[in-house]
This record gives sequence, C-alpha cells and structure tokens, in this order.
Amino acid sequence: MKIRTLALAACAAAAMTAIALPAAAQGSGKIKVGLMLPYTGTFAALGTAIENGFRLYITEQGGKLGGREIEFVKVDDESNPAKATDNVNKLVKRDNVDVLVGTVHSGVAMAMAKVAKDTGTLLIVPNAGADAVTGAMCAPNIFRSSFTNWQPGYAMGEVMAKKGHKNAVTITWKYAAGDESVGGFKEAFQKAGGKVVKELSLPFPNVEFQALLTEIAALKPDAVYTFFAGGGAVKFVKDYAAAGLKKSIPLYGAGFLTDGTLEAQGADAEGLLTTLHYGDSLGTPRDNAFRLAYAKTYKLQPDVYAVQGYDAAQMLAAGLSAAKGDVTKKAEFTDGIRKARIDSPRGAFMLSKSHNPVQDIYLRQVGAKENKVIGVASKALADPARGCRM
Ligand code: PHB
Repeated sequence: MKIRTLALAACAAAAMTAIALPAAAQGSGKIKVGLMLPYTGTFAALGTAIENGFRLYITEQGGKLGGREIEFVKVDDESNPAKATDNVNKLVKRDNVDVLVGTVHSGVAMAMAKVAKDTGTLLIVPNAGADAVTGAMCAPNIFRSSFTNWQPGYAMGEVMAKKGHKNAVTITWKYAAGDESVGGFKEAFQKAGGKVVKELSLPFPNVEFQALLTEIAALKPDAVYTFFAGGGAVKFVKDYAAAGLKKSIPLYGAGFLTDGTLEAQGADAEGLLTTLHYGDSLGTPRDNAFRLAYAKTYKLQPDVYAVQGYDAAQMLAAGLSAAKGDVTKKAEFTDGIRKARIDSPRGAFMLSKSHNPVQDIYLRQVGAKENKVIGVASKALADPARGCRM
C-alpha cells in the first residue's frame, strides 16, 4: 500500500514537472515560438513583414526546423514599452514558449532581453537595434538577426563627411533607437572632422514635424541626418519635401527612412541617400530567389524587415539542428548559431561574439521606386558591443 502511494505521488510529481516544462522538452513534437511584434501603430507593416519572412523560411524547409514542427503564440506589442514586460512574461510563464522572437521597437526589445536574461529563455531579435541588447545586456541565449542602431548611423557619418559636409543637424524620435542611431552617426562624422550643430527630436511616435522643420530652415546646416521608420518615415519624407527643404538642404538617413515606405512616399523620396544592410537591387542569385519566393507568396515586395524575419528563422534552424531539435540543450543550441554562416538574402553573415551580425552596410539611393545599391559604405562592419562581457 505504502509503495503504491509513493509511486502515485511520484507519478503526480512527474506530471506536474511535465506541465511546467516547455513544449519541446516534453518531446511533444512542436517547438513553441512566441512571436512578439507590432501589428498596430506606426510599425505595424514592419511586424507583418518580419512574420512573413519568418514563415517563408519555415515553409521552404517543409514546415519543420531541426526536425520539429513550429507552432506560434502571437502577441501585438503595439510598440509600447509600458506593456512590454507583462506581454513577454505572459509568453514565457503562461504560454511556456520555447523561443521568443521579437521585436521591432528598441524599448520593447530591451524589456524582452531583460526577461530572457532573467529566465534563460532563448531570444532572437528580428529588428530592434537597441545597442544594449548585444552590449551591456548581452547573454548566451540572446541573438539578433538584424543590426545595432549604431551600425547604419556610423556608416552614414563616414559617407556624409566624405561628401564634404562640415556641419549637420540631426532629427529623430527621442527614444533608444533614435538616440543611438544619431550616436553612431555623430561618432563617425565627428571623427572625420564634422560638427553636429543641433540635435532635434520629438517623442515617439509623434509626427508633428512642422516646428522642427522650421528650425532646420533657420539653422541652414550643410546636411541633415535622420532616423525615422514605418509610418513616421513616410510622413517625415513628405513633410521635408513640402517644407521646401529637399532642394536646399540634403537629407540623409539610416535606410529605414526609405525601406518598405517608397510606395507611399512617391516622388518625395526620389534621390535620397541612405545606409543599410540591405537594398532592393543586390542582384545576387540568393537575393533574387528570396525576392521571387516572397513576392509569389505574399503578393508584396520584400524589404529589410522581411529579410530579418527570414534570417531569424534561419538562425533558429541552425540552433535547433545543432541541438537535434531539443531547445533545452542550450549550449549546443548557442554553439550552433554562433558557428553558423547565415545564407542571408543581404549577403552571408556570421554573428559577432556578442551575437549581432557582422555585415556590409550598403549605400543606397532611391530611384524608380527602389532602394538602389550604389556601393558599400562600410565593409563587414561590427558593432563595438560596448559593455558586453561574454
Ligand atoms: C528600433 O526601435 O530599434 C527600430 C524601429 C524601427 C526600425 C529600426 C529600428 O526600422
């Protein structure tokens, strides 16, 4: 009798453990991916492109990565940092996801990274450039398929200095991504002897640019550097042209300014120069195949966000293959991603020691509704990963 009771108790304990473990650890077959992205607000289209890219790669692999089917739990994070910790905790603690994939907004991504670090949950960031995610907050279980905010900004600082611009005004949203993009730009521009005469900003996601554009007109700098993205970027480019500034003060930006936005910006974006780790006219067999598959599947042209989503799935595949489909084998999973050469549509890349892509930053110019690649602004640019101890 006593033995039977003990055995029952052991069974009950085992069942409880099974409930608490992530799906993959139970060998249930499916990997549970917590997809935390913006599906509303100024970054809504970016979230959709990331999900599209992510799903496209899985479809191309026959629906499985590392031998496992993939199941999704989706959250609209609204690009709202105030709701971010609750949203990510629900995915980790209530839904027991095996892997977190997200997000677009740097402030939200930092909350995700904090929870990932505290709980050991695997995290792949498919956009948000927050320098800290692969800097001070870096961890063995945190990866990024995109960029740091510093990377395109730094590359553009060099480009603008080489063009002979001596002084510049910056304008952006006042939050991590804007601050850090401007930070990267300033670092390179000042190193080359340039001067930033004024740093203008407005709160995210505001788009009341008029007063700031009036200030730019009065300051008359040689050039303007900007970080805006999504719906905000559409409006900024249109307002800059409408204010008559496009003809008199050249506008440059991190490439998000004109990525996924050209249809809506029309002629107002023509000729703009930007720096980014992707472009529309790479013309490589790898990119051509990706673009064709994406356009066929979604009846849409891909953009940088679609590429980052696609590559996040490639990174997950590399980790899962190395761990033989078992996400609880964290060391094998991490090693698999660290050693992988990601065959990205942007060009193959590997991760730095801090788990951020080391990649070429292209110089692109808007023409005929595309971001035409006109050169490489910075070859194999690695983020300095300040504060990362790993
Ligand atoms: C960010 O918040 O890090 C961010 C958002 C949109 C972009 C790029 C970066 O297009």
